[in-house]
Amino acid sequence: MPTTSTKYTLGYGEAMENLLRRRTAGNSAAYLLPHLEPGMRLLDCGCGPGSISTGLAQAVRPGEFQGLDLEASQIEKAQLAAENPGCGNARFQAGDVTDLPFENDRFDIVHCHALMMHVPDTPALLKEMKRVLKPGGLLAARELIASASFLQCRRHSFGEMMTMFQKLVEANGGHPELGKQLKPVVRNAGFSKVLLATTTFECFNTEKEMTIVIDFFESCFFNPENRKAAIDHGLATEEQLARWQNQLQNCRHSPDALFAHAWGEILVRKT
Ligand SMILES: C[S@@+](CC[C@H](N)C(=O)[O-])C[C@H]1O[C@@H](n2cnc3c(N)ncnc32)[C@H](O)[C@@H]1O
Repeated sequence: MPTTSTKYTLGYGEAMENLLRRRTAGNSAAYLLPHLEPGMRLLDCGCGPGSISTGLAQAVRPGEFQGLDLEASQIEKAQLAAENPGCGNARFQAGDVTDLPFENDRFDIVHCHALMMHVPDTPALLKEMKRVLKPGGLLAARELIASASFLQCRRHSFGEMMTMFQKLVEANGGHPELGKQLKPVVRNAGFSKVLLATTTFECFNTEKEMTIVIDFFESCFFNPENRKAAIDHGLATEEQLARWQNQLQNCRHSPDALFAHAWGEILVRKT
């Protein structure tokens, strides 16, 4: 799929935020937490509304925590989230992760979650992350494996719909399969010491969780702009979109529905 633009596919609506709000450092950065110590300097790239950031800030306090995101509205939300007790060391600012506003060798840890998949130029991003890491510092990344993620509701497996979403992210310059390509990608960026490379699922099971998932699909992928993009790129027809949307609604209250995001996780040291 050719890269035609660098648009962020998912947007910043309420449904997307509800999906992100479930995340914590405990459930989304568990692989990193044992390596964090009070006093460390940590940078969270593409921090979004700060749901993971607050736990990371607490884990390194009284050390320095910096969160950065392209979108000013996300930074405001992250700042609000960090008003919780124990996050007084957290600072957030708007910025682009391919042009980090920090000096060389500043951080002990550079973390990102569901960020690299949306940044078209992966080598440029990793070069910047490596530049701001101290020698001996750790890069921690958790990225989507779209083809291993699934939505199952009785006899509907939504495979074609999931493939359409994957291709739409690709058409916007993103990398929805990056979670399973992390080892070669970081090695090509000069990170030769891999401490950990693994995969985990983020599962949605209860009716309340399925409401979050269905609202996310509805608002992030079936909005008028992405519907048009899917049709323009030849990824779906109007009839398919209408059918998938209808089947999605049937999932909303089904006790049999199960959704899972598959994630690749990597922890590497700058030598
Ligand atoms: C899917 S959200 C993930 C947010 C958070 N890390 C989480 O997992 O809860 C991706 C975030 O990356 C940000 N982003 C995308 N491209 C970026 C860039 N070039 N520089 C900084 N942030 C970027 C978006 O604004 C968005 O908030």
